[in-house]
This record gives sequence, structure tokens and C-alpha cells, in this order.
Amino acid sequence: MDNYLYQCMFMRFLFLLSLFLILLTSSLSSLQPLCHEDERSALLQFKDSFIINKSASAYPFAYPKVASWTPKGEHSTDCCSWDGVECNEDTGHVISLDLNSSCLYGSIHSNNSLFRLLQLQRLNLADNLFNHSQIPFEVGNLSRLTYLNLSSSAFSGQVPSEVSRLSMLSSLDLSGNFDLYTKSDFRSLVQNFTTLEELLLTDINLSSPIPESLANLSSLTTLDLQNCRLQGEFPTEIFQLPNLQFLIVSHNQDLIGRLPQFHSNSSLEVLILRNTSFSGKIPTSIGKVSSLHTLRVRDCNFSGSIPPSLSNLTQAIYLDFGHNSLTGHIPNSFSELKCLRSLYFDGNHLSGMLNFDRFLEIKSLSVLMLSSNYLSLLTKANSNYTLPQFHTLALGSCNLQKFPDFLRTQNKLSWLEMQQNNIQGLVPKWLYNVSIETFRAILLGQNFLIGFEQSPLVLPWSKLEILDLSSNRLQGSLPIPQPSIKIYQVQKNLIREMSSLICNLSSLYVLDLSYNNLRGNLHPCFGNFSSHLSALQLRSNNFHGTIPKTWVEGSSLEMIDLSENQFQGQLPRSMANCMVLEYLHVGNNQINDTFPFWLGNLSRLKVLVLGSNAFHGAIKNPGINYTFSGLHIIDISQNNFSGYLPAEYFLHWNAMKVVGASDHLIYMELGFSGDGWSSSVQFSDTLTNKGIKLEYDQIQDVFKVIDFSSNRFEGEIPELVGSLKGLHMLNLSNNALTGYIPPSLGNLTHLESMDLSQNKLFGEIPTQLTQLFFLEAFNVSNNRLRGPIPHGNQFDTFQNSSFRGNPGLCGSPLLKKCGDFKYTRTPPSPFEENRSSESPFHFGWKVVAIGYGCGFVIGVVIGKTVITRKYDWFVKIFGKM
Ligand SMILES: *[C@@H]1O[C@H](CO)[C@@H](O)[C@H](O)[C@H]1NC(C)=O
Ligand SMILES: *[C@@H]1O[C@H](CO)[C@@H](O)[C@H](O)[C@H]1NC(C)=O
Ligand SMILES: *[C@@H]1O[C@H](CO)[C@@H](O)[C@H](O)[C@H]1NC(C)=O
Ligand SMILES: *[C@@H]1O[C@H](CO)[C@@H](O)[C@H](O)[C@H]1NC(C)=O
Ligand SMILES: *[C@@H]1O[C@H](CO)[C@@H](O)[C@H](O)[C@H]1NC(C)=O
Ligand SMILES: *[C@@H]1O[C@H](CO)[C@@H](O)[C@H](O)[C@H]1NC(C)=O
Ligand SMILES: *[C@@H]1O[C@H](CO)[C@@H](O)[C@H](O)[C@H]1NC(C)=O
Ligand SMILES: *[C@@H]1O[C@H](CO)[C@@H](O)[C@H](O)[C@H]1NC(C)=O
Ligand SMILES: *[C@@H]1O[C@H](CO)[C@@H](O)[C@H](O)[C@H]1NC(C)=O
Ligand SMILES: *[C@@H]1O[C@H](CO)[C@@H](O)[C@H](O)[C@H]1NC(C)=O
Repeated sequence: MDNYLYQCMFMRFLFLLSLFLILLTSSLSSLQPLCHEDERSALLQFKDSFIINKSASAYPFAYPKVASWTPKGEHSTDCCSWDGVECNEDTGHVISLDLNSSCLYGSIHSNNSLFRLLQLQRLNLADNLFNHSQIPFEVGNLSRLTYLNLSSSAFSGQVPSEVSRLSMLSSLDLSGNFDLYTKSDFRSLVQNFTTLEELLLTDINLSSPIPESLANLSSLTTLDLQNCRLQGEFPTEIFQLPNLQFLIVSHNQDLIGRLPQFHSNSSLEVLILRNTSFSGKIPTSIGKVSSLHTLRVRDCNFSGSIPPSLSNLTQAIYLDFGHNSLTGHIPNSFSELKCLRSLYFDGNHLSGMLNFDRFLEIKSLSVLMLSSNYLSLLTKANSNYTLPQFHTLALGSCNLQKFPDFLRTQNKLSWLEMQQNNIQGLVPKWLYNVSIETFRAILLGQNFLIGFEQSPLVLPWSKLEILDLSSNRLQGSLPIPQPSIKIYQVQKNLIREMSSLICNLSSLYVLDLSYNNLRGNLHPCFGNFSSHLSALQLRSNNFHGTIPKTWVEGSSLEMIDLSENQFQGQLPRSMANCMVLEYLHVGNNQINDTFPFWLGNLSRLKVLVLGSNAFHGAIKNPGINYTFSGLHIIDISQNNFSGYLPAEYFLHWNAMKVVGASDHLIYMELGFSGDGWSSSVQFSDTLTNKGIKLEYDQIQDVFKVIDFSSNRFEGEIPELVGSLKGLHMLNLSNNALTGYIPPSLGNLTHLESMDLSQNKLFGEIPTQLTQLFFLEAFNVSNNRLRGPIPHGNQFDTFQNSSFRGNPGLCGSPLLKKCGDFKYTRTPPSPFEENRSSESPFHFGWKVVAIGYGCGFVIGVVIGKTVITRKYDWFVKIFGKM
């Protein structure tokens, strides 16, 4: 009892005490000086210099903090009580402005009243929309600033050098302003900072090396320089900074560097070097950095083996070694990393047996990517672990013989890659129950599957967006996925039938049914069943009948490939509704029509292939709106076209006049992306050169081709052809062309192949053609040419087969001597000597043929953008917590 009473009294005492304290503090706070009138009016002017616009901030819970700042009303006089404002308790001066995500929209000029708040120590204006203002140099007047955050606020222009005067800064964040750059170099920007702890300059164009002086900033905890176009070598000393926790220099492709010897006093928690040119080995000493939880070196040049010491990183959550050149085996000790969520080794040269079941002991695992190595997986027949978080599993080219049993018990899988294995037989029935609600991508291409066990009418996975069954041995009827499907690839199988359920797939972007045995008429729904459909690939099946006429306005189709079927009748005029079409291939059918000039206003059309059909008639004068001005490749060979070559068109084929000089190969392709994935469809083509069919799985964007061969064209070759300077291949063979070879063809300096054989051309071969330094294939056989064969440059490499069948031609390589004709050998031009070594255009025909002919994946290349830029940020923010 006593005890109870005592307790009660004590509680009462506490209550009174706290009441007293509350009264005391509130009276004290009323003693605090009110804010200064000049600062108050400066704040009000600051507010008035912007429009409040909700969409000026990206943060979902953004609200206009300045809305409560009012000249009149309850809290009008004490600006220190305003939202986002903080004053010094003794002096009443405004020392902190926290207005991030405050929906401010408008420009900041140098006369902005903000710069009158000279006592400011903290300024945070992140995530507003300053409408591409420059950062006013007056910011340098706020000399007491220790914290300055102007990130993601649409500032542009040069970072004023006055920022470097803020020598008290401990945190500087200018990241996410894409149009911001430093003209004066990075070194002088940071040279005055001695107490800096955080430096975040993501997405700013720095275009310079990282200054060594950063390694003197012993307080530095965070260095974030993603996507800054950094150059030169990363100063290794920075790794050794004792307080550094977050080091992120990803997406700087020109940044080279190596990992140092790490010490156990390192504080590093996050190390992200993704997509840089870091190289060398991953040092064993990395196992000493016990604080490290995120290590991402994807898309670098690391080599050597994976140090087993990594299993000492007991905090590790995220380890990404994808797309390097790592060799050796994956240490089994990884399974000791009990916090691990994501582990990537895809795209290396790793080999050996991997005890997969050990990984299944890591309960926290959600992402495991091992694709594209030389690994063999070892897994027990009945392993039945369910990993509660497991959503991404990539086991492409892992020597799998069957569907691994552990899949049976996974119910959260979203992404499954098992392409390029040796899986035979049927897709087992149990798979239909795996992750029904969660699967978004199932990639089973390049196996030996023959079908689905107890084939369901419609595949069960209700959220599936990507299904790759390509290059298997599927027979019978086409498996139909759920309407959620966006990318469906079944090319290179033996499928014979297709149910009209396909017409329900209204979300499709890409449908690739090429190289199957599909037969019969194409369902009329093709052409309008999905308004998203961008690529429709039906090449090499047995479709016959007419092409459906249902191509609707507003169509998204960019690529239509109906080639190598038995389509008859006319090209439907409604195809002109596909206004964004870039690629139309109807070659190798039985289409009986005149030239489809009505496609000529499709300004994006780059590739038009009508070859090997029954097209006929003269090619008409187009009229100004139907010029095919964007064409790169036109192939109308092996038809019955007649009349003159269409010079009117040549006048307007502007894309072919452009010489595509590109250092790196750019392929014609369509890109797609969804949440967490991206994919692309490459344009492909079959072209005939030297009578050899070349199949191009990928077409270089600069590649320009005219193939009018094997028709009944007559008349002369127009001079205008010589203006199509971008051409790589010109084939006019097997027609009834007459007249001279125009000397202007010597202007087609990028030509790699020219075939004028089997015509009735006469006169001499113009010596101008010897200027064609890239010409590898040349054929004028079976014409009525005469005179001496020109010499020099490429002409010295052609065989007599290039010239035979012209009784009037003489000189080497033909046996017939030129009696009356004299010629002097032109000295080899300096250009020619250069060619084999340094010329940027050293891209000979043979190289092209080999490069395209083998080794490239046909059709869609799907890549999971496992690590989006957003995720970088995510890790950073959450890593800090
Ligand atoms: C708000 O910003 C959005 C996007 O910048 C703009 O479209 C809209 O017109 C703005 N509204 C006002 C009232 O300024
Ligand atoms: C931005 O403001 C929100 C509140 O509006 C706050 O929770 C958050 O921490 C701030 N972020 C930064 C980086 O200052
Ligand atoms: C933003 O800039 C644009 C173009 O400079 C201008 O038209 C617009 O009025 C500006 N908006 C504000 C709120 O200052
Ligand atoms: C500040 O300068 C801008 C442009 O230089 C001008 O349009 C604006 O009127 C000025 N504002 C004040 C308050 O002087
Ligand atoms: C460093 O700061 C001092 C004054 O704080 C200033 O005079 C000097 O110009 C600054 N250096 C640079 C490179 O901005
Ligand atoms: C892990 O760390 C311990 C002690 O620090 C060390 O003895 C061991 O060799 C390390 N393991 C590996 C695989 O390096
Ligand atoms: C998992 O497999 C083990 C033997 O491998 C068995 O003892 C256990 O009952 C199985 N668990 C479930 C849930 O099937
Ligand atoms: C093409 O169609 C026309 C009639 O439209 C017909 O006369 C002609 O024989 C057909 N040509 C071929 C090759 O089928
Ligand atoms: C070309 O198109 C424009 C508008 O689309 C039209 O006004 C014009 O008459 C057309 N010209 C020809 C020759 O068809
Ligand atoms: C071809 O080039 C020569 C100069 O080399 C020029 O005089 C001629 O006009 C050009 N012809 C064409 C059709 O562009």
C-alpha cells in the first residue's frame, strides 16, 4: 500500500515539474529576439520573386513552405517562426533557409533579396525549378555558409567561381543540374575548401581530372561525382581518406584508375565505380573494409579472379561485378554473406562448378545474376528452399540440362533468364504454378525446348511483359501469353499454327515470329490489334494470301518485316497510315503491284525492301510530297520494273547524300524500355553482293544502299546518282541500261561495292572510278564497254571476272593487250597508303560481311537495366540511413 501511495505522489511531482518546465520554456522563447525587419522583408521579396507551382518539385510530398510567409496576420512579424526559416537564438538573424521541395518556380537574378541574408549558414533550395537561371555569383557573399544545396533545381550555365570563396562549407551539393558546367577547372573550385565533408556534383559537366587536392580533405565523408565527364586518372589517395563513407564516380567512361590496397581503418560503406575505365585486379585487401555494404564495379575493365576475402564483408548487401573480365571460379564462401540481397557476376569469364544450393542459404537474396559466363551449376534434385525476397535470377549459359527444381518453390520471381542452356524437352507443368502473379520476364531462348507440357490455352503468368522462346524447337501451335505481354519472341522455332487469341495481345510492342512454319492467311487483326506494336517480324514463314488491309492511323509500327513468305496481291494502301515506319521489308513474296510511291511521304522510312516479288511498271515521278527523303537502303531487285531509272527520286534522297562519318558503329534499331528493363530490336536485311547473299543481323546506321538489279530498267544511268555521296553499295546489274558510265560515279567515295554488270553500257570505264578507295567489289562484266581498263588504287585488285564479256575492253587483268591505247600508271595516292593503317573509315567490305555474318544475336536483345540511375540515388539515400 505504502509503496503504491509513494508512487502516486511521485507521479504527481513529475507532472508538476514538467508543467513548470513547459511554462518556463515558453516564457523564455517569448524573450527570444524577433527577426530583423530587413531580413523579414528580404524573405518576403524572395517569396514574391517566384511563382508557386506544384510541378516545380519532384518530391511527391513537396509543398510550398513559403505559403505561410505573410506580411500580415498572426505570425507575420516573427519571420523566425516561418516554415523553413531558422534564426540565431541570440541575435535573431536568419541563419538557415530550408526550402527544398517547395514548389518554387522562376528565375533567380543577382539582385535577388536572398543575397541580403548575410548571416546565412545553411541554404537548401534543392528540388525547385529555377528555370535555367545561372547561379548568381552573389552566392559568394554568403561567406558564413557551411551547407549549400542547390541540387536538382534546373540551374544552368557556369558554376560561378565565387562559390570557391565559401571556405567554411562542409557540404556542397549542386548535383542534378544537367546544364551546369565548370569552365574554370574543378581544381580551383575546391581548392579553398578545407573542412568539406560532402561534395556532390552529379550530372555537372566538369570535363576535367579529379584534383589531387581532394585527397587532402580529411573530413570528407561523401564524394559523389557521377556522370561528370571526368577524365584522367583517379587519385588513389582518395580511397584512403579515413572518413570517406560514400565514394561514387560511376558513369565517367574516360576515368581510369585502379583499386588500392585497402586498410582495415577504412570507413567506406558505398563504393560505386560503375561504367568507368577502372581496371586491374580486385585486391584481396578489400575484405578488410568491414563497413562496406555496397560495391558496384559493373561495366569496368577489372580482370583477375574474385578474391575469397570478399566473404569477410559481412555487411555486404549489394555486390555487382557484372560485365568485367573476371576469370576463375566464384568462391563458395559467398554464401556466408548473410545480409546479401543482390549479387551480380553476369558477363564475365568465370568458370567451374558452382554449388548453387549454397546461394539458396542466403535468405535475404533477391537478385542473383550469373548469366554469360562459363559456369556449371550444381544443384540437388529436391532442393526446396523458398527465398522470400528472390525476384531476379539470371542463369543464362550456365550449362543447365533441365529446369532446376528449386524454381518450384519460388513465389516472388519476377525476372528469370535461362537462355543459352541445354534444356531439352517440354516446359514442365509445375512451372505454370511458379510466381504466377509476379513474373514479368521469362527468357528461355536458345535451348532445345519442344513445347509446353499439357499445353495450356493461354500461358498463366498474368503480369508477364517479356517472353523469349526464340531459337528452340517448339512445334505445333503458338503459345499465347497473357495480354500483359509487351515483347514476345518466338522466332526460329518450328511452329505451324497460330490461334486468333493472338489478337488479344493489345499491349504488344514487339512480336517476332520469324523463321517458323506458320501457314495460311495472316489474321486480319494484324495491323491493328495493339496500338503499341512497333515491330512486327514475320520473316520466313509460309503465310500466303493477301496482306491484311487493317493498318490504322496512329499506328506505332516502326518495323514491318513480312519477307520470305508467299504473300500475294497488292501492298495495302493503308500501310501509308504507319506514319512512323522506319523499316519495311516485303522481299521474297509474290506481291504483284506497281511501285508504292504512296509510301514516299513517310519521312522516317529508312529501309525499303521490295526485292524478289512481281512488282512491275515504270517508277513514276513522285511529286513533291512523296520523295522518300529519309531512305538509307532501297532494294527493289528481282522484279519487273521497267522504264528509266527514277532520277527525280535521286534528286530528293537527301539521307543518301549525307556521308555518315561516325567513329563508332551505330546500328539501326528500335529501343524499348519498361520498368527496370530495356530492349532493342535491330534492323536486319539480306543483300546480294557478288552474287552472294549476305544476311545482316544488324545494319549500321551509316550504311546506304541502292539495289535495282534484275529488273527491266532501260535508258542511261543518270549523272545524279553521283550526288548520293553516302552510298556504300550500288547495284544496277542485270537490266537493259545503255549509255556511258557517268564519271560522276567517281564522287561516290564511300562506295564499297558497285555492280553494273549485265547491261548494255558502252564507252570507256571512267578513270574517275579509281578515286573510289573503298571499292572492294566491282563488276561491269557483260556490257559493251571498250577501251583500256583504268589502273591504280583498288583497280589493281580486281580480277578479270569483273570485266569479262566486254569484247572492247583491254589491259590487265584481261589478257587482251591495248594496242593503241597508252596509259601511265597513276602513282599510289597518300590516301591509299594510309588506308590500311589509320584511316577512320577502314571498314572494308569483307570485314563488314564477317562482322555481320556471324556471332551477333538476331532480333531483340534484351537487357535488364538492373541498375538504373535512380537506384544509385536510392542506395545513397538509404545507405545513409
Ligand atoms: C507549372 O509548371 C508546369 C511545368 O513546368 C507548366 O506547364 C505550367 O504552365 C506551370 N503553371 C503555372 C501556373 O505557371
Ligand atoms: C527535403 O525536405 C523534406 C521535407 O520537405 C525533408 O524531409 C528532407 O530531408 C529534405 N531533403 C534534403 C536533402 O534536404
Ligand atoms: C522561364 O523561362 C522561359 C524561357 O526563358 C520564360 O518564357 C518563362 O517566362 C520563365 N518562367 C518564369 C516563371 O520566369
Ligand atoms: C532584378 O533583375 C531582373 C533582371 O536583371 C529584373 O527584371 C528585375 O526587375 C530586378 N528586380 C528587382 C527587384 O530589382
Ligand atoms: C579563397 O578564398 C579567399 C578568401 O576567402 C579568396 O580571396 C580567394 O579568391 C579564394 N580562392 C579561390 C580560388 O576562389
Ligand atoms: C577474413 O578475415 C580474417 C580475420 O580478419 C582472416 O583471418 C581471414 O583470412 C579472412 N578471410 C579471407 C577469406 O580472407
Ligand atoms: C524439403 O526437402 C527436404 C529433403 O530434401 C525434406 O525433408 C523437406 O520435408 C522438404 N520440405 C518441403 C517443404 O517440401
Ligand atoms: C499481276 O496482276 C495483274 C492483274 O492485276 C495480272 O494481269 C498479272 O498477270 C499479274 N502478274 C503476275 C506475275 O501475277
Ligand atoms: C503536299 O502536301 C501539302 C500539305 O500536306 C498539300 O497542301 C499539297 O497540295 C501537296 N502537294 C502535292 C503536289 O501533292
Ligand atoms: C563530281 O565531282 C566533281 C569534282 O570532283 C564535280 O565537278 C561534279 O560536279 C560532281 N558531280 C556530281 C554529280 O556531284
